[in-house]
Amino acid sequence: MSHPDRRPLKSHAPGTALTGRLGVPGDKSISHRALMFGALAVGTTEISGLLEGEDVLRTAAAMRALGAEVERVGPGAWRVSGRGVGGLLEPADVLDMGNSGTAARLLLGLLAGHPVFAVMTGDASLRKRPMKRVTDPLSATGAAFWTREGGRLPLAVRGASDPLPIDYVLPVASAQVKSACLLAGLCAPGTTRVVEPEPTRDHTENMLRHFGATVSVTDTPAGRVVLLEGQPELVAAAVLVPGDPSSAAFPIVAALLVPGSRVVVENVGLNLLRTGLVTTLREMGAALRVENERIAGGEAVGDIIAEYTELSGVTVPPGRAPSMIDEYPVLAVAAAAARGTTRMRGLAELRVKESDRLAATFALLSANGIKAEIDGDDLIVHGTAGAMPGGGTVETHMDHRIAMAALVMGLATRAPVAVDDAAFIDTSFPGFAALMNGLAGNGGPGGPISGA
Ligand code: S3P
Repeated sequence: MSHPDRRPLKSHAPGTALTGRLGVPGDKSISHRALMFGALAVGTTEISGLLEGEDVLRTAAAMRALGAEVERVGPGAWRVSGRGVGGLLEPADVLDMGNSGTAARLLLGLLAGHPVFAVMTGDASLRKRPMKRVTDPLSATGAAFWTREGGRLPLAVRGASDPLPIDYVLPVASAQVKSACLLAGLCAPGTTRVVEPEPTRDHTENMLRHFGATVSVTDTPAGRVVLLEGQPELVAAAVLVPGDPSSAAFPIVAALLVPGSRVVVENVGLNLLRTGLVTTLREMGAALRVENERIAGGEAVGDIIAEYTELSGVTVPPGRAPSMIDEYPVLAVAAAAARGTTRMRGLAELRVKESDRLAATFALLSANGIKAEIDGDDLIVHGTAGAMPGGGTVETHMDHRIAMAALVMGLATRAPVAVDDAAFIDTSFPGFAALMNGLAGNGGPGGPISGA
C-alpha cells in the first residue's frame, strides 16, 4: 500500500552533532479544531500557525464543502467565515478525509448534528480504521449511519433533524470520540455529557470555551466528566496554533541520540495532556529543559531544549498512554538506544492508528537489529547502550510517524536505515527531512536524510 508518489528515503549518522533552533509545524489536533469551530462560529475566525499538512488541508476542504468560507491568506494564516451552529450545508459530493482519522471522526460528530446526507471516504489506511467507536455514540443523537463491514469507511450518514444530546461513557481513552460527541452536542438542546475513564487531550474543551460555549470539566471517581451546554452561539475568535509536540518529538529524540547535540525547539505546545513523552524521556535520564513557558492562545507553550544524553530503560505505565499516544514509535527508538530494557505498557490503542503501530514499531526495531517483544498490549525493547546496528528497510504502512521514527533512528545507527515510503510525512510534518538535515548543518540534498 503506498502514496500515489511513493518516496523512499534513508538516513545515516550525520558524523556531526545536531545543533540549532527550530520551530516545528502547527499542532495537528488544534489545527483541525480551529477550522471546524471557525466553520461553526458566527463571524470571521483568523488562524495563525495552522499546520498546512495534508490531513488538515482535508479538513479545510471539507469545511468548504459544508458551506464555510475558508481562505489561505499567507503561510499558516487562514481565515474562516462560519455559518453558525447548526448552519452547515449538505455537501454536494463525497467527503474524502485522506489519511486523517481525526478529520473523519470529528467531522462525523458535526454531520450527526446537522440535517444533511453525506458520504465519507478516505485512503486505504483510513478505510481500515474503526469508525464504530464514533457511529455508536453518535447514533444516540438520532443520526443514522450506513457503513462497510466492521464499521469502516466509506460510510453514509443522515444527520439528525432534531438532534438529541448524548450521555456517553467512553469505553476507550480517545479524544477523537470525546470530541465527536461534543461536536454533535453543539447542535442538540440541553446538556451533552461525556465521561472519560482516563483524561485525554482537551483541545476541544479549551477551544469551545474560547469560542464562547459553556463547558465544565469535573474529576470524579468514575472519571473525568465533561458537560457541554447545547446550542450555544459560537463567536469567531482568533486562534494561535502552537508547534505540535508530537512533531517536536522527532528532533528532540534525534538530539538525545546523536553525540554532542543540542537542539532548541521553539514555541511547542505543552498542554499537560500531551507531554507524556517529556516525562518519560526525563525518567530515562534525558537532558531536557523547558524555557520561556507561557500561555498563548489559551494553551501552554514553551521552548524545549534537548541535549545528547546516555539514556536508561524504564517502565512506562499504561495510564500515561493518552498523553503520549502518538509518540510511542519514536520513544521505542530512544529505548533501543538506551541502556537496559524499556517496557511500554497498555498500548492496545496503537493497533488502530494510521497503521497497526504496535506491529509496525516492532517490525521497525527488528529490521534494524534491535531485540524487542510484544507481550499482550505491552512493547518491550532491549536497549543497545548506544550501539544500534541499523541496516534495515522499514515498511511504513502509510504511517507518517513510523516513517519519521525510522529516519530518526538512522541518524544514530551503525548502518543506514531506509524507509519504503516517506510521502505520508506530509500529512503532519511537511519539510521534515530538510529541517532535520539543517540541524546537521546540511539542509541541501547531501544531508543525512536523503533519497534512498
Ligand atoms: C487526536 C487524538 C488521538 C491521536 C490523534 C489526534 C485528536 O487519537 O492519536 O493523532 O486530535 O483528537 P485517539 O482519540 O483515537 O486516541
